[in-house]
Amino acid sequence: MMQKHHKRLALFISLALAGLCQAQAQDKTIDVVHWWTSGSEGAALKVLRDDMGKRGFQWKDGAVSGGGGEPARAVLRTRLAANNPPDVMQMIGFSIPAYADDGTLGNVDALAAEQGWDKVVPPQLQKFAKHKNHWNAVPLGVHRTNWIWANKAIFDELKLAPPKTFEELVSMADKIRKAGYIPLAHGGQAWQSATLFDSAVLSVGGAKFYKEALIDLDPKALSGKTMEKAFEQLAQLRTMVDPAYPNREWNFATSMVYHKKAAMQIMGDWAKGEFEKARMKPGTDYLCFQYPGTDGAFIFGADQFGILNTKQQAAQVAFASAAMDKGVQEKFNIIKGSIPARTDVPMDNFDSCGKKSMADMKQAIKSNTMVGSFAHGHAMRDTAKVAATEVVGKFFDKGGSPAEAAQQLAAAIAKAK
Ligand code: GAL
Repeated sequence: MMQKHHKRLALFISLALAGLCQAQAQDKTIDVVHWWTSGSEGAALKVLRDDMGKRGFQWKDGAVSGGGGEPARAVLRTRLAANNPPDVMQMIGFSIPAYADDGTLGNVDALAAEQGWDKVVPPQLQKFAKHKNHWNAVPLGVHRTNWIWANKAIFDELKLAPPKTFEELVSMADKIRKAGYIPLAHGGQAWQSATLFDSAVLSVGGAKFYKEALIDLDPKALSGKTMEKAFEQLAQLRTMVDPAYPNREWNFATSMVYHKKAAMQIMGDWAKGEFEKARMKPGTDYLCFQYPGTDGAFIFGADQFGILNTKQQAAQVAFASAAMDKGVQEKFNIIKGSIPARTDVPMDNFDSCGKKSMADMKQAIKSNTMVGSFAHGHAMRDTAKVAATEVVGKFFDKGGSPAEAAQQLAAAIAKAK
């Protein structure tokens, strides 16, 4: 009788201890990896961080610089190998289902069901956030890459208007250079050149060709005449940049535009965040318009946070609730330059470029001209994207024959698929 009692007591104590350990393992911190290191990116992220603070969570920040996120993904590989994953990590496009497939990601299904995310997140984003019916990631905002950002004072001084065709852009660049300004601010990092390529491909072939080539990966489209033209555009853009362009960070390129050194930058609308941080206003100090030949069409990338397999479920759920909060999405995206991932966030407080982005996205969805960004992981799986980005980056830096570059692109993708 006594022995039985002891056994029960021992069982009770060990269960209580196990519970205590679990509670201790789940502390009130959230370990976050991301690549938002520019001024506006940091300011936008602070909205989320402050909200987590209000919810009683400490923020362990893992910023890894490098736009597009390749260096951050390398950090994740190291941390996974050391069995020390972060709790959440900024993720884009096809990398999310790939991480889900290899067991790296957990989910926030219960919260998503409770809050009805299925109804407020557009299917184009759900395609990446949700895998095999699990919400593995939380979508925060939508960026567009086929933008040009221009210094209005230079445009006024030289009596320039947004170019309607690529040829017009080329002759404008000539005028700008002769007036002593750099036509195009650019940073020679492969992902930035790949961002120009997003627009060039859409410009030469339209959304249908963009899909055939960069999304369906049709070898003929990848290696053919139209693709050759996209590389020709890239070669022309190369003539518009200054000699000091190699390795320049994208936000320094943006600062060349607002400091009136360069006339334009072709970049996703995270550049808008930097203009706003510099207290520049759209329509007054800077202009936003579409890369010629891509008006109306919308090349998108969505920032999401992947939920990793850690013991911090309570913190992850709080983080996901914060990221999906309407007020947080409004504030965050206004600072970041993107538009909200939720379709029910009011757009009244967004500036004219933000409103245009939302209107164009809705129109592009209707006309089937909304396409995923190649440069930012929404067109093809990461292995193919990395190989193709290398071809594009090399061509931009070293030059060569556009026809050969198109062949190399097709070959690199075929090998990596
Ligand atoms: C993109 C990301 C944007 C922005 C950009 C430059 O991949 O989606 O939010 O951060 O890189 O850092």
